Amino acid sequence: MLLKSTEKKIDLVFIGMPGSGKGTQAKILADTKNFNHVSTGDLLRKEIGKDSQLGKDVKEVIASGALVSDELVLELLKTNTDYSVFNYIYDGFPRNVTQAKAFSKYHELKPFNVIYFKLDGRKVVERLSNRRMTPDGKYIYNLISSPPKVRGKCDITGVDLIQRSDDREEVVRKRVEIFEIETSPLISFYSESKNFHEIDAELAVNSVTREILKITEMTH
Ligand code: AP5
Ligand code: MG
Repeated sequence: MLLKSTEKKIDLVFIGMPGSGKGTQAKILADTKNFNHVSTGDLLRKEIGKDSQLGKDVKEVIASGALVSDELVLELLKTNTDYSVFNYIYDGFPRNVTQAKAFSKYHELKPFNVIYFKLDGRKVVERLSNRRMTPDGKYIYNLISSPPKVRGKCDITGVDLIQRSDDREEVVRKRVEIFEIETSPLISFYSESKNFHEIDAELAVNSVTREILKITEMTH
């Protein structure tokens, strides 16, 4: 359900290392608090699923661990969001300062909180090599911290779980490197603002959710 502008107004931007829990938390908040989850990674993987030329180009970039072009991502985001609607969670966007500036321009009159999921880069490979998910990315599991009840199957939908091709160790290391070079400058870009909040992404899933809810209630 999309919340229209007459209801409680709040958008959230999730920034964090690969595997820091952005998708997990966005899904919980979408299910329990009516947030509208938009993940640029999921939108790009959907393009790959279409097997179009665009999908083929994107597939190569994602498989290498690099970032897709800013123009493409901005276009995809505009097509898949509605400016008059509130309570979006932007998961994995913006990813660099160019995207953040474009977002501020587009988002000019809509307030948003930035939540930075802080996770030690050394935890990332373990988390991602054990991640399994539904093909649409909606339901996310971890063989160690949150395994499905039946091996290889989603508890909710019963579909077969997949492992993302960019979760191979060498690609994960590249993604961490890209995060440090391209995305981490966003932390100083946003940190001067009162809308910037850092959370400890190493806490248990439900504790992280509580921290995010505290922030949203405190600021709105
Ligand atoms: P994207 O899909 O955004 O991937 P990512 O940022 O690398 O993040 P992940 O989805 O891997 O991790 P997550 O933080 O969502 O963690 P999750 O909740 O799944 O992007 C993929 C690619 O698309 C990019 O490399 C790039 O090529 C392209 N792209 C996307 N956006 C772009 C943009 N804006 N510009 C340009 N290119 C773009 O959790 C991970 C695991 O940990 C799971 O197994 C989960 O169960 C477990 N877990 C979660 N929370 C906890 C916890 N608190 N404790 C223990 N385990 C936990
Ligand atoms: Mg994700």
